[in-house]
Amino acid sequence: MRVVAVVNQKGGAGKTTTVMNLAAVAAQSSKVLVVDADPQASVTMWATNAEELPEKEQLQFDVATETDPEALTQMRDLDYDTVFVDTPGNLENIQVLKAIVSQSDFIVMPTEATPLALLPLVYTFEKIVQPFGLDYRVVITKADSRSPQDALDAQEMLREQGILVCNSFVRAYKAHERAPMYGTVVTSYEKTRNSEKATMDYKDVALELFSLWAQTRKG
Ligand SMILES: Nc1ncnc2c1ncn2[C@@H]1O[C@H](COP(=O)(O)OP(=O)(O)OP(=O)(O)O)[C@@H](O)[C@H]1O
Ligand SMILES: [Mg+2]
Repeated sequence: MRVVAVVNQKGGAGKTTTVMNLAAVAAQSSKVLVVDADPQASVTMWATNAEELPEKEQLQFDVATETDPEALTQMRDLDYDTVFVDTPGNLENIQVLKAIVSQSDFIVMPTEATPLALLPLVYTFEKIVQPFGLDYRVVITKADSRSPQDALDAQEMLREQGILVCNSFVRAYKAHERAPMYGTVVTSYEKTRNSEKATMDYKDVALELFSLWAQTRKG
């Protein structure tokens, strides 16, 4: 099994959206659990809304709510191929965060491309990710869908600091913004032109990560 924690101390960076959509894509070919370790319980709320959807649009992965660091250390005993962990967006819960990161095989760090977002991202990387020596990738989220330049500049700026960044990035679309309320994920979005683009973005990020993980297969 592989435990993937989605981390960034900056609030609103796109952690929960990334967890839900990577889990949805991964669940098309493997057994997936999402652990909601954020006291805000956004994943739990999202999954509750999904229960109202028709059968074929139901989430294809399991969801567990767990904020106790002790219980989180037992994640690895569960029978799943991949566990995605959604984490809180602040440093108040640094003990929880450290407990999660110490159980994880890989860290995904979503961030917006703006300078004010990149500072806390780099801080999170130095405080939470680097000390554990874990493999990780930054994923740029909420990129301007009409001009990718800011996202490309942010990728370049991070790479210049020696930080690893996914080539694929996620653009800002209404479909993502509405999704928590309807309980939808990219695999259940309606088939409009923009929501298909929104779906493609997370599929591209997922494929990039899956091929990376395939090179370091876990038992
Ligand atoms: N690609 C996107 N396009 C449009 N809206 C997005 C996108 N990604 C996230 N959002 C919206 O931005 C807001 C923050 O996203 P999200 O909740 O995923 O971030 P978070 O890092 O989990 O936040 P928190 O730190 O509060 O847990 C939400 O309203 C979400 O719907
Ligand atoms: Mg969240």
